[in-house]
Amino acid sequence: MKIGVLASGSGSNLQAIINAIESGEISDSTIAVLICNRKEAYALERAKKHGIPAIYLSGKEFATREGYDKKVVEILKEYGVELVVLAGYLRWITPYFVESFKDKILNIHPSLLPSFKGLHGIEQAFEYGVKVTGVTVHFVDETEDGGAVIIQEAVMIENSDTLETLEEKIHKVEHKLYPYVIEAIRSGRVSKNGRIVKIN
Ligand code: GRF
Repeated sequence: MKIGVLASGSGSNLQAIINAIESGEISDSTIAVLICNRKEAYALERAKKHGIPAIYLSGKEFATREGYDKKVVEILKEYGVELVVLAGYLRWITPYFVESFKDKILNIHPSLLPSFKGLHGIEQAFEYGVKVTGVTVHFVDETEDGGAVIIQEAVMIENSDTLETLEEKIHKVEHKLYPYVIEAIRSGRVSKNGRIVKIN
């Protein structure tokens, strides 16, 4: 399976996927291309170190979001991408993009959706004082963090946790769940009926 990854930041989830491909946890797959909308994204370095084509595409070159996404879709198709994985991609994706890869775009979110949507899921859960938060992997639709849930795993917030320790716990779960879901999709074990997704 040819995977396309979109990232904006450190790329630790990208790294987890690279590791899972190299170890065979995700089989018969390659990351065909990485696209970043930020030049300083460390994800670009990670990809290059592993010989993955890494493309920086600046939003400034495009008059509209759709124009930008048309270019992204064009690149993904050029590389024969079958599954698009958003890994810390800090950009709103347009309906054009969603339609071009219908039910083929995944996102990972650091909370138990629909709680704590948006950019600061870990911090918000911590500050709200919930005792259970977690990680969600979901299909991407035109809504913000609102697509069908594929898998969730809970993370407990203990008395001794600080925001930093909670972040560590969440990232550890992310790095396990994302490769697991990608392999489940690759092996055809994920079915979707409206919002109800099952891993068989
Ligand atoms: C992760 O916490 C992910 O849940 C969120 O953005 C963060 C990306 O981290 N969508 P990284 O760039 O993969 O290290």
